[in-house]
Amino acid sequence: MATILIVEDEPKMLRLLELNLADDGYSTRAATTAENGLKILASDKVDLVLSDVKLPGMSGLEFLQAVKRANAAIPVVMMTAYGTVETAVEAMKDGASDFVLKPFSIEEIKLIIRKELEVRRLHEENRQLREALGQRYQFENIVANSPSMQEVLATVEQVAPTNSTVLLGGESGVGKDMIARAIHQHSRRVNGPFIKINCTAIPENLLESELFGYEKGAFTGAVTAKPGKFELADKGTIFLDEIGDMPGSLQVKLLRVLQEREFERLGGTKTIKVDIRVVAATNQDLRAALEQGTFREDLYYRLNVVPISIPPLRAHKQDIPYLVDHFIKRFAESSGKTIEGITPEAMKLLVDFHWPGNVRELENIIERAVVMASGPRIEAGDIRLDVAPSGGQANSQATGNLATMFLPEGMTLEQFEDKLIREALQRAGGNKSQAARLLGLSRNALRYRLSKIGVPDEPES
Ligand SMILES: Nc1ncnc2c1ncn2[C@@H]1O[C@H](COP(=O)(O)OP(=O)(O)OP(=O)(O)O)[C@@H](O)[C@H]1O
Ligand SMILES: [Mg+2]
Repeated sequence: MATILIVEDEPKMLRLLELNLADDGYSTRAATTAENGLKILASDKVDLVLSDVKLPGMSGLEFLQAVKRANAAIPVVMMTAYGTVETAVEAMKDGASDFVLKPFSIEEIKLIIRKELEVRRLHEENRQLREALGQRYQFENIVANSPSMQEVLATVEQVAPTNSTVLLGGESGVGKDMIARAIHQHSRRVNGPFIKINCTAIPENLLESELFGYEKGAFTGAVTAKPGKFELADKGTIFLDEIGDMPGSLQVKLLRVLQEREFERLGGTKTIKVDIRVVAATNQDLRAALEQGTFREDLYYRLNVVPISIPPLRAHKQDIPYLVDHFIKRFAESSGKTIEGITPEAMKLLVDFHWPGNVRELENIIERAVVMASGPRIEAGDIRLDVAPSGGQANSQATGNLATMFLPEGMTLEQFEDKLIREALQRAGGNKSQAARLLGLSRNALRYRLSKIGVPDEPES
């Protein structure tokens, strides 16, 4: 059984954690300071670290950094009091695997510890298997030479044949759709349907009937019965994209589907049972949504059974040349042009770029370059990188110098934000999804801000 190092300066809390974790069969080591924690780590075999953020002497964050420097693979779970969420976010950036907010339940801690140890075991097994076989994962149409993308494929291969729910995380354009489909294709459900639903694209009032279907007469206009996506996905995979935008009212219903694999159509009384595999994706930090209370915690844990996080392109630049070749072949073929490759200067431009739009952006740029190319090779001049300062592209007023784009006289940042949000709502004609897009926020994040400035949350029509 695994050994857990607990670092906590409050004796009662320390004792409570020790007793409860020992109850579950873990062996524990305890320290009341970070300094002592590091000593234990240096001498004993420890599988997971559970540490308070606030410690006397060396802080929890410094401790985390020191642990990660010594052994990057060891999972560290941080405990932090309400009101210090920023610190928790900081901790995640520094490599913490997860965090819990005090006061927490022991069950919550146990769940997180079990999950972290399981993820670590999977990684370790993957690594050993790969080493033993000298194996490289290769999936059709997926470029993944870098270690981080190989890790993603290894997890896909391992999890695909199971029925486990998968939660894909990663910035826009990193390949979440692609990986969701790969999971389906490598599963035993491959001959069943793959049904995708984008929770942001569908207006909130239609989402429920889209997902669950309806009976004839369930509402005005329901002249015939219609099955929902969950029914259509029977014996297959359902892909819930942008899960962070799932409205609160539907989160409860989704939780039931995940737990019981059953639901009723709108206006129906018959319980429908389905055999589905759920893959969800998000490009936002769901933990922040948990904190703001816009995403249910129980749902989060049901979804986050096997988390797969897809790295941004700038974090695996060694894949860029392979991706470029892959896309040149594809677009040369579809455009009927003979393009043999790319000049070293052009390739350097691509490798040096920071790719805010990730693989999708690279794909678009190669498509355009193939069209532009007049010779047999793509040249630097054929490549048009979007180098507008991030965040400012859409707003021509914002391209001036700081003096002209600063806060209007006498306005606080909060008042200005308030004004921007109201302006976005107006431009979007009151449609919150569209307003959220204008602001680069998720619908839930917008809803949270609206409630803060006192705009009532009416259902959209
Ligand atoms: N590793 C890869 N190899 C080949 N093609 C890739 C790879 N990663 C992404 N792509 C391609 O990049 C494009 C964007 O990928 P995808 O739509 O899966 O991203 P996403 O993470 O779902 O984005 P969003 O968050 O905007 O929905 C797709 O055309 C996909 O095929
Ligand atoms: Mg997508």
